[in-house]
Amino acid sequence: MNRRQFVKGSSAAAGLALFGSDAQIIAAAQIPGSVPSSAVQQARFPEGFLWGTATAAYQVEGAWNEDGKGESIWDRFTHTPGKVRGGTTGDVACDQYHLYAQDIALAKRLNQKSYRFSISWPRIQASGTGAPNMKGVDHYSRVIDAMLENGLRPFCTIYHWDLPQALEDRGGWPNRDLAGYYADYAGILAKYLGDRLTVWAPFNMPWSVADRGYGVGAFPPCRANFDDFLKATHTLALAQAQALRSIKAASSKATVGSAYGMCPAYPKTDSEADRAAAARYHAMNNVFFLEAAMKGRYPKAFVGEPPLELMGFKPGDEKIMHAPLDWVGFHYYTRRVVSDATGSHAGGGGFSGTEIESDPATGRDPYTRFQAVMPTEGSITESGLEVWPRGIYDLVTQISREYDHPIIEITESGCGYLDAPYDRENGRVPDTRRIEFFRGELAELARAIRDGARVRSFHAWSLIDNFEWANGHTERYGLIYVDYRDQKRTIKDSGYWYGKVSASNRLDV
Ligand code: FCB
Repeated sequence: MNRRQFVKGSSAAAGLALFGSDAQIIAAAQIPGSVPSSAVQQARFPEGFLWGTATAAYQVEGAWNEDGKGESIWDRFTHTPGKVRGGTTGDVACDQYHLYAQDIALAKRLNQKSYRFSISWPRIQASGTGAPNMKGVDHYSRVIDAMLENGLRPFCTIYHWDLPQALEDRGGWPNRDLAGYYADYAGILAKYLGDRLTVWAPFNMPWSVADRGYGVGAFPPCRANFDDFLKATHTLALAQAQALRSIKAASSKATVGSAYGMCPAYPKTDSEADRAAAARYHAMNNVFFLEAAMKGRYPKAFVGEPPLELMGFKPGDEKIMHAPLDWVGFHYYTRRVVSDATGSHAGGGGFSGTEIESDPATGRDPYTRFQAVMPTEGSITESGLEVWPRGIYDLVTQISREYDHPIIEITESGCGYLDAPYDRENGRVPDTRRIEFFRGELAELARAIRDGARVRSFHAWSLIDNFEWANGHTERYGLIYVDYRDQKRTIKDSGYWYGKVSASNRLDV
């Protein structure tokens, strides 16, 4: 079942939240999972808290073939008819490659303190290896300077999914050689940008890189092969650690963390089997790469031992993948309810069972043996995700407990709603549902901080509406509306609200 089918199937639960008038928002307080307004009023964030937003190169930059940039797997994918909803591409996207100064000025206007952006690997190395393309390096150098001039902390994601196509042609992430190529690329960035850039996250959602790209084939390179998935995970774990070392070798100021995608997992019943299944989900989808970096081993994600041979694991790899992070970054969007699938019939032979977007009809993977579903008890965004504010509290406190209270950065969170400029209100964008989403969630984050979690930042996804991968322009996550016909930016009501939150460290603004 895809995200949209969820929206359709849960219209009763979502009913009140699907339309945005004030009366309906008040009624939304009755929706399961919503946070009482007293908690919103009382929430406070520590002084110096880093309020931020996040974007990714392919989703905002455009300029897909300018200044020596090579083709990425996302260029190839979006140029293939039938792949993207609505037939759009990221060729132009938000044109941020040319309009970055304007977007950074907007972030400053919203009192932002941190900006998480990603660098496009094929801009730096067109085919993924060899000498850097200095036009690409100089571009990001200017972008970083503009951030610093505007009081924003630059936070760099080294890889947000746009692999050079030439490296996919050499086998993609299942090919272990990519770990070394990737570490070279990261070292180039640290050498040229590391005098000003100090906050680095190697991969955005590495688990999804392996799963969506090689396991279920929803994203490029669209392979659906469980062995490729396993091999890709191991290359990514090696690459993450090798990159950490090459960054630190090139820049003494560097700190390295992560930008993992995580969903808190709740067992479907209190049975031991379901609780064990939820633990496997957490190990597989949330902390697989965190455990690899922090402890040099894979967590208990599998029934039985990890299939190390199939993963391409060689003796000594435990040392290579061990590279303790300086801080831990992760995204929170929604939650999962997990049950044991050990007794279920494994059909098909394809890969599924580990994620909601996969198709149960094609069979379960033989290793993790759980079924994870996104509940529809809370309201559902227009992008089809359940709103469950408490999830961020549970996730943050769980990671704090399990990893000895690390410094945490929330690298992404947000919601897709399609609100557009409203001519009867002088072109304002009254996206009250987004404000409601952030209010509830941030109240829960403030509670986690109050209870001792060392969270130092929150990055809303996203500063501006952008190209939402295979869903193209059919989803809008921005605090700022983008009209793709003329690239006009309009700050949404949520953007003004978030700007006030960032200036005051409170939510009742
Ligand atoms: C996250 C991705 C980000 C964006 C948001 C909506 O999983 O990291 O690029 O697509 O979802």
